Amino acid sequence: MTSVTAEPANIPTHVAVIMDGNGRWARARGKARHAGHRAGVKSVRATVEAAAERGVAHLTLFAFSSENWRRPEEEVSSLMKLFVEALRREVSELHRNNVRLRFIGAREQLSDSLQRKIAAAEETTAGNTGLMLNVAVAYGGRWDIVHAARVVAQRVASGELTASEVNENEIASALQLGDTPDPDLLIRTGGEQRISNFLLWNLAYAELWFTDVLWPEFDKQDFDAALAAFSAKQRRYGHTGEQVEAAEC
Ligand code: FPP
Repeated sequence: MTSVTAEPANIPTHVAVIMDGNGRWARARGKARHAGHRAGVKSVRATVEAAAERGVAHLTLFAFSSENWRRPEEEVSSLMKLFVEALRREVSELHRNNVRLRFIGAREQLSDSLQRKIAAAEETTAGNTGLMLNVAVAYGGRWDIVHAARVVAQRVASGELTASEVNENEIASALQLGDTPDPDLLIRTGGEQRISNFLLWNLAYAELWFTDVLWPEFDKQDFDAALAAFSAKQRRYGHTGEQVEAAEC
């Protein structure tokens, strides 16, 4: 008998996620926005588990953007508290599951206490060899590119590099995810179809998958639906479909 498997043929190496819809989920239930963010932690857990189980190597979650500082002070401070609480509660479980945790973004904008907890979590999990989990906090794609440009400019100023040696590789490797392959798949929940200043450089060739599901409702089945849609795509990187098919033979 032929065995039938639900496993998609091509598992993306790197999945990036814009977790949107927490506020609307809370409002629909007559709750404060913060309740939506708290409920969203469960979906973070499910997504991390699903990514590890399906063999995704890198998962990058957009938890707090450069622009989210503009939210009401009360919401910002409750989100910061939630990050501290999530670190306290989740790091040992992530460590047990061989997950390596890393934060990207302007971490100097965070409180000293949160920065210390982030550094400790990164240190605890640094030797793990399973899923690489990147959490973007105080992160913006334009900030990332400007920061990388400054790093490269310093190298030119110091004579290590000439201006004509500045190329895509030099800039890409100075980005926050300079050591990580670009995302193959971007998932955005919450119904909006935009990038919102997430990994602007890195998402150049990503497949985009949008769902109306609000983040607190997002589960492993939704993650699998995104993987299945990804698996059906032909990635051409500027080539023709015929060229890609010939190369696959
Ligand atoms: C966007 O929904 C969500 C955020 C700005 C915060 C995401 C944070 C979490 C899911 C908390 C846990 C995260 C980690 C990594 C532990 P929104 O508030 O913009 O929703 P809306 O569009 O419905 O208003």
